[in-house]
Amino acid sequence: MSGTPEKALQLIDLHKSFGPKVVHRGVSFDLHKGEVLALFGGSGTGKSVILRSIIGLEKPDTGKILFQGRNLASLPEREMIDVRKKIAYVFQNGALFDSLTVEDNLAYPLREHTRLSAAEIHRKVDEMLALVDMKGSNRLLPAELSGGMQKRAGLARAIILGQEIILFDEPTAGLDPTNTRRLLENIKTLKKKGITGIFVTHDIPSAFEIADRVAILYNGRIAVADTVENIRKSQDPLVRSFTHPMD
Ligand SMILES: Nc1ncnc2c1ncn2[C@@H]1O[C@H](COP(=O)(O)OP(=O)(O)OP(=O)(O)O)[C@@H](O)[C@H]1O
Ligand SMILES: [Mg+2]
Repeated sequence: MSGTPEKALQLIDLHKSFGPKVVHRGVSFDLHKGEVLALFGGSGTGKSVILRSIIGLEKPDTGKILFQGRNLASLPEREMIDVRKKIAYVFQNGALFDSLTVEDNLAYPLREHTRLSAAEIHRKVDEMLALVDMKGSNRLLPAELSGGMQKRAGLARAIILGQEIILFDEPTAGLDPTNTRRLLENIKTLKKKGITGIFVTHDIPSAFEIADRVAILYNGRIAVADTVENIRKSQDPLVRSFTHPMD
């Protein structure tokens, strides 16, 4: 690959405060088409607020989020509904509906947003369950699933509309090594299919395995954005505080 990468998303000078608490002081970065960008940052630095701003669950005070010629930072809610068919947000805990089976949880976005027939919906649900290694779990309730399965079912539901961009908020947090591995393999499969993603995490080894680039949120701004290769060998003290936290 050569030349300037195509931009899937462009965040430009985002500012956000909650009351007196300033969270973003000029956050800017590009997400390139086809890449997974890992987003690092200490707890409470505003990583989730970045993801939530992209899908319109928070509104930046100022700044722009450019996506396919639209500025998501000032888009009315009714237009955000259309954007959410193109950008998926994978909640940390899966956020399944407790009273619905896995089948109905996954079918929900399809019933809400598409005109697919019942048979087509069932086929799509099965296809997504296979992707997340949960074939045959259709009739289980969320309470009957392990934490790892809940997360993978949440991933399947979040992306069932075939969104081109996926925002992952700490997808491996709280998972044991086996479930972490499964989820990473699921994300790798998605990557081969051409998705673009932002992967917010404190799990540095997983980020290095899955990401193409890393951005570090520090003091309200993106202090560093570079390839995984350069981040791995960086001597910058801020970078090393993430990559070598025990030093
Ligand atoms: N809706 C809200 N109202 C008030 N304060 C909020 C709101 N959402 C986030 N905050 C505050 O903004 C700051 C950034 O929150 P955010 O959830 O983005 O952090 P984070 O980087 O995702 O942290 P973690 O790694 O712990 O998930 C925190 O101090 C949080 O308390
Ligand atoms: Mg968070």
